[in-house]
Amino acid sequence: MTHARQQSTHHSIQVIAHRGASDDAPEHTLAAYRKAIEDGADALECDVRLTADGHLVCVHDRRVNRTSNGRGAVSALELSDLAALDFGSWKDREESESPDWDPVPGELTSVLTLERLLELVAETRAAGRPLQLAIETKHPTRWAGQVEERLLHLLKRFELDVPPTEGPSPVRIMSFSARSLHRIQAASPTLPTVYLMQFVSPRLRDGRLPAGARIAGPGMRIVRSHPGYIERLHRAGHRAHVWTVNEPEDVELCIDLGVEAIITNRPKQVLSQLGRS
Ligand code: G3P
Ligand code: CA
Repeated sequence: MTHARQQSTHHSIQVIAHRGASDDAPEHTLAAYRKAIEDGADALECDVRLTADGHLVCVHDRRVNRTSNGRGAVSALELSDLAALDFGSWKDREESESPDWDPVPGELTSVLTLERLLELVAETRAAGRPLQLAIETKHPTRWAGQVEERLLHLLKRFELDVPPTEGPSPVRIMSFSARSLHRIQAASPTLPTVYLMQFVSPRLRDGRLPAGARIAGPGMRIVRSHPGYIERLHRAGHRAHVWTVNEPEDVELCIDLGVEAIITNRPKQVLSQLGRS
């Protein structure tokens, strides 16, 4: 990789903070998202799940056991149950060095609703920064359309369900479920959708995507083992948003292959490698 090549590509690759700046602060908390914004990320990534009383919250796992001091499935808990939990201390226990987030329980480390995250994005955009949000629907099949319905309802409230006619959409929807993306596309055809892949199924090896998907979201493992796949995606007219790219050699490979977005737990490090800090 020549310096000149890196200079010519660094501004075109979008850096998306995976669950916020989740290497530095507890994932999916306001602390992690504020840190990602401070670090200069172009976009934020979040996973969304429905609570028992129908709220969309930003939690990755089916259960809250790993990332909070509580137990149980998100789908079996109400928002008020989740609000009583601490989603920050687990990270404190993992890392003995002085943390970058506020370890005192409070808004920064409590459960984050999608609504609150949308407010943060709206505030940041209103301040003149074109921050974007990539929302991943988790286990949407369990809810038979309710995740997408609630999601679109919320986006509509923020006037984000239909992208502006000019410029990039502030929001994109991602999923491992083609059905979920299809529902989104049917209801809001201009909203960008990203089909996430852990492996490439034989019928998609030529770079095609399932109906309802506009952008490809291959895992880094795919990119490492099948670098030619990115070229096939590009030839088929699709952009590639790759996850989760944390190691410098993986960032380098993504630059070489000309991917359009890097989804990372370490936005600051990736931006620096792209020559943007
Ligand atoms: O950004 C896509 C990536 O987040 C998918 O995997 O398990 O981290 O949600 P996961
Ligand atoms: Ca995710």
